[in-house]
Amino acid sequence: MKIFLDTADIEEIKIAARWGVLDGVTTNPSLYAKVGGSYDAILAQICKITSGPVSAEVIAEDVEGMLTEGRHFAKIAPNIVVKVPMSETGLEAISRFADEGIKTNCTLVFSTNQGFLAAKAGASLVSPFVGRLDDINQDGMIVIRELAEMFAIHEIQSEVLAASIRNPLHVTQAALAGAHVATIPFKILQQMVHHPLTDKGIVQFRKDWDEARKNAAK
Ligand code: E4P
Repeated sequence: MKIFLDTADIEEIKIAARWGVLDGVTTNPSLYAKVGGSYDAILAQICKITSGPVSAEVIAEDVEGMLTEGRHFAKIAPNIVVKVPMSETGLEAISRFADEGIKTNCTLVFSTNQGFLAAKAGASLVSPFVGRLDDINQDGMIVIRELAEMFAIHEIQSEVLAASIRNPLHVTQAALAGAHVATIPFKILQQMVHHPLTDKGIVQFRKDWDEARKNAAK
């Protein structure tokens, strides 16, 4: 399973890239609002850090508006993927982008049928929101599992991107459910690195090493 970072924060993206675990980035208007500045400039910077897919989300709700925004984003770098919300106009825009060779990520997917339609329209990435479904007492992972299975059975080329990841367990569950990608907030990526026994073990090994060196010098 590929790991995308779910952020518009350049420093976080640089760190994940240095760790060697970064396969791409997703942004959205809320993540952009946290960092501010020029969205275009941020996207250009992100695309210099990773050669993997970088999702840039359209705001327009009509087809022509989505196409104008998406074509603009696509010119920023070759690895830009235009993020289009699931809707009737969104599907039409996804289909038009596919005809133009522009890759898309269909966002705000909450049901298996929505994901199926997004794939049929030509989205290269389909993003079910696991956390937001869990928030309303529905098992978000079911949509991931069903779409992964459906795409495999019918040899559909679109990839299932587990979005709205809220904890490290979601990452494990998404991978085991067959997600092709999980987009992960930086804080959760850090949580995945750590384990209390690992951290304790590092301290103990250092202590024992220092003690052994002290004794050897006697
Ligand atoms: C990414 O593509 C999504 O926009 C993001 O994962 C949504 O996460 P949230 O539900 O925590 O806002």
